[in-house]
Amino acid sequence: MKILTLETTCDETAAAIITGDLEVLSSVVASQDELHQRFHGVVPEIAARAHVERILPVIDETVRKAGITLGELDAIAVANTPGLAGSLLVGLVAAKTLCVALNKPLVAVNHLHAHIYACKVASGDDVFPCIGMIVSGGHSNLYRCNAPSEFEYVGGTIDDAAGEAFDKVANMLGLPYPGGPAVSRVALKGNRKAYRFPRPFLNDKSKIAFSFSGLKTAVRYAITGGATSEFARPEFSDQQLADLAASFEEAVVDCLVGKAILAAKQSDLSTLCVGGGVAANRRLRERLRTESKKAAITLYIAPPELCTDNAVMGAIAIERLRAGLTEDLDLDLIPGLVRQ
Ligand code: KG4
Ligand code: ZN
Repeated sequence: MKILTLETTCDETAAAIITGDLEVLSSVVASQDELHQRFHGVVPEIAARAHVERILPVIDETVRKAGITLGELDAIAVANTPGLAGSLLVGLVAAKTLCVALNKPLVAVNHLHAHIYACKVASGDDVFPCIGMIVSGGHSNLYRCNAPSEFEYVGGTIDDAAGEAFDKVANMLGLPYPGGPAVSRVALKGNRKAYRFPRPFLNDKSKIAFSFSGLKTAVRYAITGGATSEFARPEFSDQQLADLAASFEEAVVDCLVGKAILAAKQSDLSTLCVGGGVAANRRLRERLRTESKKAAITLYIAPPELCTDNAVMGAIAIERLRAGLTEDLDLDLIPGLVRQ
């Protein structure tokens, strides 16, 4: 079996061809980072237009690299939820068009389920059932993942997502978009204890929740010395910049690690899978490894290139195809998060 998977939920145009044994024959990701950089975040209209320009060249390159013809495919899969409406639409229309032209079945992919499934693709292990944590630009949630497409919401952020906090703090620190890799690079030379930033809910064992909005404000006050204007950007030394980045990163990591381990301990499961762009973070990976080991939890985190958006994680569609879960051509996109 061979399937083509498409991923256009946000600002990466990606396609991959994967076999029924989860062998990746090809994977192409066209990033739009340079288009959104000057806005310090993803501009939905720009993202949708860029997907339109890139989707066909990306599919062509994916098929060429796999060394197969489109006719050899058994199905076309596409992420149709959650994401930006205009972005989702481009992938969905491309997938449906291929299905009609090639007379192949259409398979729907839930982007969040796929982020966790990346752990299975990367390890080759049967990771389900597990506690899954998805930490990305749009989500910071924990789920009980009973099966590849059977997720129960356990808890998550009550305001910003972790990736969003990284992106906004990077902007405050004068660092480029996407903020996660930039903050984490600068943090390497910083003192993680230089600033004591808030860690909401961390010591409350009765709650599986995150809040990163106050942390962002605390970083702003640390930068401006209490001035509330976002234009007040006093000069700070390279060391202060590194200390701010390191202290911020440590606060986010403490919260994510604390609640992931708590959710796993409170469940009857001893496997934790972590996915999403923020899971590419070095410090988070390091701390998750140490704390999981202490708690005797088996940890899976996909390699960084399978944490940020990609189409390989769409291999989850193989499970759906095998279960007979194909879609009609009136399949719609669902931009909002459905908590399951
Ligand atoms: O999963 P993803 O590629 O797209 C969404 O589904 O949102 O996640 C993108 C997010 C961005 O906010 C980006 O800053 C963050 O992941 N990110 C990181 C790192 N690499 C990407 N955050 C922290 N450390 C990183 N190394
Ligand atoms: Zn994502």
